[in-house]
Amino acid sequence: MKKYLLKDALEKGYAIGAFNFATLEVLKAIIASAESKNSPVIAQVSESGIAFLGDDYLKGIIESARKNCRVPISFHLDHGKSFDIAKRAIDIGFDSVMIDCSMLPFEDNVAITKKVVDYAHERGVFVESELGSIAGIEDDLKVADKDSLYTSPIQAKEFVERTGTDSLAIAIGTKHGAYKYSGEAKLRFDILEEIEKLIPDIPLVLHGASGVEARDVARLLEMGVDIQGAKGIPEELLAKASKHHICKINGDTDIRISLLVGILEYIGNNNSNIDYRKYLGAGMTEVANLVAHKIDVYGSANKA
Ligand code: G3H
Ligand code: 13P
Ligand code: ZN
Repeated sequence: MKKYLLKDALEKGYAIGAFNFATLEVLKAIIASAESKNSPVIAQVSESGIAFLGDDYLKGIIESARKNCRVPISFHLDHGKSFDIAKRAIDIGFDSVMIDCSMLPFEDNVAITKKVVDYAHERGVFVESELGSIAGIEDDLKVADKDSLYTSPIQAKEFVERTGTDSLAIAIGTKHGAYKYSGEAKLRFDILEEIEKLIPDIPLVLHGASGVEARDVARLLEMGVDIQGAKGIPEELLAKASKHHICKINGDTDIRISLLVGILEYIGNNNSNIDYRKYLGAGMTEVANLVAHKIDVYGSANKA
């Protein structure tokens, strides 16, 4: 079995940033930043990201990134929804796969996750799975309804024991995308603490964890991008979660925002340029700055 980066994070109380990419430019920016911070890093691709890149091109990218990257890097399938996509990602050469059947009844989630775990472990690949709803906890839901969406600690213990999953994504109040909260941002640290007491050896994963910085939202609004009302997770909450058993923190929306800010600002300031390397380069610089900052917040600098 390869080295499992999340175990070190669990033992030492930090989290590793898991950043989505679907272009080589974004991956190169992520790697440059992790190297500059001497930090381990997870580069993840969604099912639609794999379709966008193409299996064979992606395979080549992963192989050459592994050869060239000077810090520990792990390639991960993000939100695989079926056994078939997990198998395909393993064939491409991913180090770990996520099987996300959290939308299915508990017993079905257990059965499919276990099937993926058995297949992946035979091939030295780690598995992340999910329990609870990361679709967002709406402010206007009744308390009883809200509680049913958070991950149940008791169920988490049973799920981990029955599936043999290596890590578990939990729902404690985060949500995917740029519009996470209409009111105050909150994370249920009480639920996190209960989960970590019941399954102390399992690294936990936080999805939907982009910060959606107000400054970047303002920059995009100024440049005409309609992103009014976008709001993410304050970084103090992410720093606190990193010291708990949250060992992997996912961000995709922040990457998209940074790349767009860099590209649009460059184009706005250089209206005679037609060389895409210039504006893509400016986007890559923004992405690299974002990743470096996240590495500081999650406490993974110098943990390579
Ligand atoms: O959590 C989901 C990720 O942001 C992936 O999104 O399917 O548009 O690549 P995507
Ligand atoms: P964000 O939408 O908050 O970036 O979350 C991404 C994610 O969880 C990918 O799995
Ligand atoms: Zn996610």
